[in-house]
Amino acid sequence: MKLNKNAKVSLVGAGPGAEDLITVRGLRILQNADVILYDALVSKELLLQIRTDIPKVYIGKRCGLHSHTQEEINELIVTYAFEFGHVVRLKGGDPFVFGRANEEIEYVESFGIPVSLVPGISSAIAVPSSQGIPMTKRGVSSSFWVMTATKRDGSFSQDLVYASKSSTTMVILMGVRKLNQIVDEVIKYRGKMTPIALIQNGTTENERCIVATLETIKKYIEAIRMELPGIIVIGDVVADHPSFFEEEVQRVLHSAY
Ligand SMILES: C[S@@+](CC[C@H](N)C(=O)[O-])C[C@H]1O[C@@H](n2cnc3c(N)ncnc32)[C@H](O)[C@@H]1O
Repeated sequence: MKLNKNAKVSLVGAGPGAEDLITVRGLRILQNADVILYDALVSKELLLQIRTDIPKVYIGKRCGLHSHTQEEINELIVTYAFEFGHVVRLKGGDPFVFGRANEEIEYVESFGIPVSLVPGISSAIAVPSSQGIPMTKRGVSSSFWVMTATKRDGSFSQDLVYASKSSTTMVILMGVRKLNQIVDEVIKYRGKMTPIALIQNGTTENERCIVATLETIKKYIEAIRMELPGIIVIGDVVADHPSFFEEEVQRVLHSAY
């Protein structure tokens, strides 16, 4: 392959969902792209704001939808850079949070193509925050732990156990389909009254949020749309969510009869 002298790649974080939660720098770089390669969780409204003459190509890999492997994605980035020049690789949230950004950078740089980075606001923080759930709170939680429940081979991560044994705020990504098993595991180490929230499509107009306790969350399982992206937050900080109080009142009323 011949190196196009303008070939370069900008890896840009698109933010957690809402179109206006991208950084100013990220938006400026998008408007100067020769081509944009975007992920499944990138806001369609954000893409509509970008000049119509800039090609926008979906190269996502969300379960259930048409998917590319990571190897195909790496190759596409390089192919487009040689053909078009400046590729903006637009990824949901921050590219370095469960984003495999390092693999894309390594592959692209191996062709001598320079890569620049623009961080994004990660859903891990912005989604709970947009619901008024603090990650840390004086006297309640002095840390938060962002994790995924399962490892590459699908087995449960030991991190889930370590975090459950501590008092950290647990923020679990890519865990919606495993909600039942996660609750069964965490409840072994934390009290059944521990507050839990599931927030889906966070920061968008289709945001959905369920607030409960480890003991009661399973009654909502039927209502959960498993295909939507969601974040599970477990810890006493979730009690700050206005709906948690309602949930508690209902529980006390029902237990009285
Ligand atoms: C592959 S990870 C990428 C995370 C991304 N790099 C970030 O920093 O937000 C995708 C997971 O992020 C979470 N996620 C991303 N956007 C979300 C949103 N708007 N609402 C709820 N969860 C979201 C979900 O757990 C989803 O399965």
